[in-house]
Amino acid sequence: MTAIAPIARLTRGRRKKSVVGTPAGMIPKVRRPDFGFPADMPKWWWDNDPMKTLLLAALSASFPAGERFFIDSVRHYQDQITDPELQKAIRGFIGQEAHHSKEHQMLNGFLEERGIGLARLDREIHDFMNVLRKYTSPERQLAHTVAVEHFTALMAEEFLLKYDALEEMDPRMAPIWAWHAIEESEHKAVAFDVYKAIGGSEFVRVTEMMTVSVLFPVFSGIHLVQLMKESGELGNVKSWAKGFSYMFGKPGVFRKLLPAYLKYYSPDFHPWDHDARDLVEKAKKKWLGSWA
Ligand SMILES: [Fe+2]
Ligand SMILES: [Fe+2]
Repeated sequence: MTAIAPIARLTRGRRKKSVVGTPAGMIPKVRRPDFGFPADMPKWWWDNDPMKTLLLAALSASFPAGERFFIDSVRHYQDQITDPELQKAIRGFIGQEAHHSKEHQMLNGFLEERGIGLARLDREIHDFMNVLRKYTSPERQLAHTVAVEHFTALMAEEFLLKYDALEEMDPRMAPIWAWHAIEESEHKAVAFDVYKAIGGSEFVRVTEMMTVSVLFPVFSGIHLVQLMKESGELGNVKSWAKGFSYMFGKPGVFRKLLPAYLKYYSPDFHPWDHDARDLVEKAKKKWLGSWA
């Protein structure tokens, strides 16, 4: 475990130390790796399995438009932030998300060329984000980013870094997912800290998470079914059973992230209550090499 949570306290009479707030010096580092995807990559590059591969492909399709929205929602308030550390963190956040967007566009193009229809999904997400831009307040747009960032950090830490998902992938596909997961964990509190600094309402923060908790699985589920159908794998019972077991049975990655998800609804919640720096450090050594 990396040293010290500088802002630590004894929690209400209990003798347990907890991290409170973003650790000092936690500035997201902008790395600019350049991933290549070779032509002999297997079609089902995660565990040789259509459902697992297409689930990540559907998520990848949502990143470019989604991450542009996250950047804009934070940038809207950037001038109001007086804390120089948080200003630095915002620049790191924007740099990381911009580069995720760029690399996932390349990945999505590569998958599209191999017959996985991600361009339509990208357009749908883009249109949805424009609806949010048009009809919701800047405060709610930032709350949307805060909620999705909590989801992505949990998925990165609990789903990709903790279990053997990366080891199950083709070794030429794993690095982009490892890199993205590491950086999602590094910048998980930036949007939240901005939201708190501008005095964002608790009601909006919590109700937006409720909305995202319905929309995110529904969109992801619909997109997964569409991609399975287009790939001629809709009736692949074995793949569905294996995927569902992985998510909700054994190891049950989604089931296990439920407690950390529910903590979001506490008024004392902070993304760094869940400290995964040990997992991130291990993954950096293993997957990032000289970019770490
Ligand atoms: Fe990202
Ligand atoms: Fe993010």
